[in-house]
Amino acid sequence: MKDILTAPFMVEMIRTTTNMYAQGWDERNSGNISLLLYEEEVAPYIDRDNVIRSIPMGFDAKPLAGCYFLVTGTGKYFKNVQYDPAKNLGLIRISADGCSAEVLWGFSDGGKYTSELPAHLMSHMVRLKADKEHRVIMHCHPANLLAMTYVHSIDEKEFTHTLWQMCTECIMIFPDGVNVLPWMVCGTTEIGEASAAKMSNARIVVWAQHGIYGAGRDLDESFGLIETAEKGAEIYMKIAHLPRLNTISDKQLRALADHLGLNVREGYLEV
Ligand code: 13P
Ligand code: ZN
Repeated sequence: MKDILTAPFMVEMIRTTTNMYAQGWDERNSGNISLLLYEEEVAPYIDRDNVIRSIPMGFDAKPLAGCYFLVTGTGKYFKNVQYDPAKNLGLIRISADGCSAEVLWGFSDGGKYTSELPAHLMSHMVRLKADKEHRVIMHCHPANLLAMTYVHSIDEKEFTHTLWQMCTECIMIFPDGVNVLPWMVCGTTEIGEASAAKMSNARIVVWAQHGIYGAGRDLDESFGLIETAEKGAEIYMKIAHLPRLNTISDKQLRALADHLGLNVREGYLEV
C-alpha cells in the first residue's frame, strides 16, 4: 500500500483546510468538508476490506452506498489538520444499506465524522443528480456573509442580486445564484434535508446567521465559490451604510452574461 498522506486528494485536503483557516472562515472547530473519492483513487492507499469501525448515521443515504468520502471530523480544528491528518480527518465508505459510515482510515482518536454529515450526504445526492462530476461539499463561517444575513433581506433573489452587484466576478462565478435557508438548528437531519433541497438549483446555500455551503467538482472550485461570495458580502458590508452613487445595472449584468454565455438564474435580472 502507498502512504495515504502522499495521495493527491489528501495533500489537497490538507492545503484547503489550512487555507480556509487562514482566511478566518473556520474558527475553532467550525466548518466541515466532504470530498467524494472514486474507488480507483483510494485503492492504492487503503485496504478496502479492513473496516476499522462502522458508525450508524441515523439517516438513510442509500443512493450513496459504496461511495468513499474524505471527511473532516466533528469537533476538530481546521488549523490542526496539517499537523495530524489522521486524527482530524477520516476516510469513510457508506455501507451497503446506506445507514452507516464504515471508517477505513483516520479518526484515530476514536472521533467521528462531522456533525453536519446529513447536510453533506444529502447535498451530495442532489448535486450528483445535477452534475455527474460533482465531488465536494464545503461548509464554513465567513464573517461578511454572516453579517449580511443580519442586515440584508434573506429573500434569495434579493440576496443574490445584491451580491452580483458587489463585484463583476460574482455573476460570472455563480450565475446560478445563492439560495438561503432561514436560521435552523444545525447538525440535524432536518437542516440536511432543507439544505439539500436548496442545492437542486444552486451550488451555494447560505445558512442565515450561521454560515455557507458550497458545492463543486473539486476543492478549489468550492473554495473559489465561497471566496467570491464572501468578497461580494465584504464589499456590501463596507458600503451598505453609505450613499450608493454607482452600481452595476441589470442591463450591464445581462451584457456580461451574454458576452460570456452564462446560464443566469431565470427571472433574477430585470432585462
Ligand atoms: P463539526 O465540528 O461537527 O464539523 O461542526 C462544525 C460546524 O460548523 C457546525 O455547523
Ligand atoms: Zn457551521
